[in-house]
Amino acid sequence: MLILGIETSCDDTAAAVLAVEGDAPAPEVTVLADLIQSQTATHNPYGGVVPELASRRHLENIEPVVKSALERAGVALERVELIAVTQGPGLVGSLLVGFNFAKAISLAAAIPYVGVDHIAGHLASAFLDRPTPEFPYLALTASGGHSSLFLVESPTDFTLQGRTRDDAAGEAFDKVAKLLGLSYPGGPEVSRLAARGNPAAFNFPRAWLEPESGDFSFSGLKTAVASQIRRTPPANEQEIADLCASFQEAVVEVLVGKTLAMTKRCGTRQVVLSGGVAANPRLRQYMQDAARREGNLQIFMPKSRFCTDNAAMIAMAGFFQRHRATRALELDVYSRPGYLTPLATSGRRSHGPLAPPLPAQG
Ligand code: KG4
Ligand code: ZN
Repeated sequence: MLILGIETSCDDTAAAVLAVEGDAPAPEVTVLADLIQSQTATHNPYGGVVPELASRRHLENIEPVVKSALERAGVALERVELIAVTQGPGLVGSLLVGFNFAKAISLAAAIPYVGVDHIAGHLASAFLDRPTPEFPYLALTASGGHSSLFLVESPTDFTLQGRTRDDAAGEAFDKVAKLLGLSYPGGPEVSRLAARGNPAAFNFPRAWLEPESGDFSFSGLKTAVASQIRRTPPANEQEIADLCASFQEAVVEVLVGKTLAMTKRCGTRQVVLSGGVAANPRLRQYMQDAARREGNLQIFMPKSRFCTDNAAMIAMAGFFQRHRATRALELDVYSRPGYLTPLATSGRRSHGPLAPPLPAQG
């Protein structure tokens, strides 16, 4: 099956073409094209994403990026069997550009489309590489907007086991970068500097919360870094690197520690890392080392380019949700994560609608 993926939930305009054979749990996936038009230069001077500028850039970029992806894949639009597009959560003005573009192609070329939840996309990124995990497994999704643990029981069945109570892990990286006057987005910059720093230079707090909790909290850590910088501003590059390394170590230790504790509670022996923060080399190394110490624990980490936002993961999630494909034009985007309104079911928290309900086939 040939799938065109489109992702415009934040500040990157992304399009991908996937060829998928077989089915879960181990579909044969070939990424024929995977393009991202970055907007970093637009937002960098502001130290963060400016929503209105983001949607304007998406409007300029969406047609050339989708066209280039199809050309790069050597696939004519008529051969595409499914369009998968991010429906939410994200910036509404950004989402609308990709979503309406997908609807327009669907209408013009008579191709069904499926609206995909961005987090379901991150969760699907594990299937873009080999080997693929076996169900059920635990997935950590750590990005700019989310730090969540999911028990994944099938490609479309995710149960939320924990989430951030305040800042997401990536958000904490970005805020610390801003405090240090580093460029946006801060995560890659902090991790680059951290590689030259001493992770034990500062003993920043680790928020473990209640012993049984799978939730995260990073705002106290961010405040501790801010206080340290206010008290003793770093005087040179080495001191900045030491701050970055010590901050990064605190984030990584909690992400890994809580993920491993949750695998025991859920009885799973496989863990998937996903989301932009999963591109962090220290997190990847720390998780591998911890798994080796535990023994009998298998870690799946998509390539870094599949961890940060991309359209291949959206196409992958669209494949898993192809039974929901439609040509209905009245569908709309949504800005907030579905699982922010958890349903209490048998003592477990559900994610809510990671796959929003659709009207009858149009
Ligand atoms: O998944 P993603 O690309 O977009 C969202 O869905 O938010 O994640 C972006 C986040 C940003 O906060 C960025 O700073 C962070 O992931 N990030 C990193 C690294 N690369 C991206 N954080 C730490 N280390 C990295 N190498
Ligand atoms: Zn993302």
